[in-house]
Amino acid sequence: MTDVSRVLDVADKGLEQSLDRLFDLVRIPSISTDPAYKADCRRTAERIVADLTRLGFSASLRDTPGHPMVVAHFEPKAAQGKVPHFLFYGHYDVQPPDPLDKWTTPPFEPEKRTGKDGVVRLYGRGTADDKGQLMTFVEAMRAWIEATGTLPIKATILIEGEEESGSPSLVPFLKENKAELTCDAAFVCDTSMWDAKTPAITTRLRGMVKDEITISGPRIDLHSGAYGGPAANPIRILSKLLSKLHDKNGKVTIPGFYEGVGEVPKEIKQQWQKLKFSDRKFLKEVGLSVPAGEKGKGVLEQIWARPTAEVNGIWGGYTGAGTKTVIPSQAHAKLTFRLVGKQKPEKILKAFRAFAKAEVPKDCRIEFASYGSGSPASEIAETSPLIRKSAKALKDEFGRETALVGSGGSIPIVRYFKDVLGMDSVLIGFGLNDDALHSPNEKYNLSSFHKGIRSWVRVLDAVGR
Ligand code: BES
Ligand code: MN
Ligand code: MN
Repeated sequence: MTDVSRVLDVADKGLEQSLDRLFDLVRIPSISTDPAYKADCRRTAERIVADLTRLGFSASLRDTPGHPMVVAHFEPKAAQGKVPHFLFYGHYDVQPPDPLDKWTTPPFEPEKRTGKDGVVRLYGRGTADDKGQLMTFVEAMRAWIEATGTLPIKATILIEGEEESGSPSLVPFLKENKAELTCDAAFVCDTSMWDAKTPAITTRLRGMVKDEITISGPRIDLHSGAYGGPAANPIRILSKLLSKLHDKNGKVTIPGFYEGVGEVPKEIKQQWQKLKFSDRKFLKEVGLSVPAGEKGKGVLEQIWARPTAEVNGIWGGYTGAGTKTVIPSQAHAKLTFRLVGKQKPEKILKAFRAFAKAEVPKDCRIEFASYGSGSPASEIAETSPLIRKSAKALKDEFGRETALVGSGGSIPIVRYFKDVLGMDSVLIGFGLNDDALHSPNEKYNLSSFHKGIRSWVRVLDAVGR
């Protein structure tokens, strides 16, 4: 029996215990954006430290001004200085579970359920994003260590606790720990497969920058009869401003917005065409049928290679039961911009603010509050030997060619690994489009978890040689 098949065997036999360990993590509500869960974030980090220590890693919890990081190192036995050194990244923090009443089972009480389609799914906040995913490489390493006493590579693990809230402590942390964290390359497990049968490596991520605006008009809420007409209404000003963000072709109108956005090369477009993606099916799955967005651009291009301006939340005035005839004193909105190519977060933020200010009449005010500084997009060369070896290992597990794909989401650290540590990343993940990330009833398929663990067993072997 080869090492790999022995390790795969151990991974298969230990699956139930792997699941127990994942569920223990999911039970802790590590919501990084809400200060009420600070202690839970810390508890999650401590649990991972304990788990990795038991595995033979030298693991530690590292305090930051925000939530702690977990850093762990494994020195393989009989290393002749020849084995490569890789970093493995995941995040233990999760998104808030709201709206709670939409969950079938409580978000932090993980449950394994078999659907009518016979598919076994693991439900709970963080099962897919990212606790289930990070546990795929942890459990693969456990299997290697149990089966052979060591790993075929030298490994450093970095588990972050602020990914879902913009990673404010990340760059200073990378800079302070540069020597300790710089490896030959990083493996990031926070992305999806192409579909349940087809593995994928993600080579493009969009960047992101966010803002929050408050428009203030009258000093106090006013009677909408007594003042309606002469009094400026902040909600009307806000909605007019927001409606001007896009033109009739779906293009963002902020001056300078598309600076640094390149066209997708022909070869890449052809590669994407081969994936046989159905725009209609994609929309149908979420209850839509009419493509929005930039006219003349397909869904894949829009998601993987075009920037956006989105309104994530809007509030103000009276929204309770019945009516209240009021002109509110203030109106608010939260926005995010997804970035591609060479778009610079700071520049986009500045351009948006100038655009917004110009829409506000003289006797009203606009204030801006953003959290974190945003992060630029990442593009990873598809030709590296590491990507080739990883793609082959995934193919061995799934029996299907690995798709090289983009992702519309953002994982800020990928860009910082490159810019701060000079380190390339390989993005391998086992999520699916219908995992309901950031949504009620988030789930991870049992097969994602199981095949994910098995895939990492093979990847570690492939890149260690
Ligand atoms: N895992 C996601 C990114 C992702 C989403 C990858 C979908 C592949 C498919 C990640 O945890 C995430 O949600 N990132 C945030 C960024 C952040 C700065 C809040 C995002 O994309 O909104
Ligand atoms: Mn994630
Ligand atoms: Mn997320």
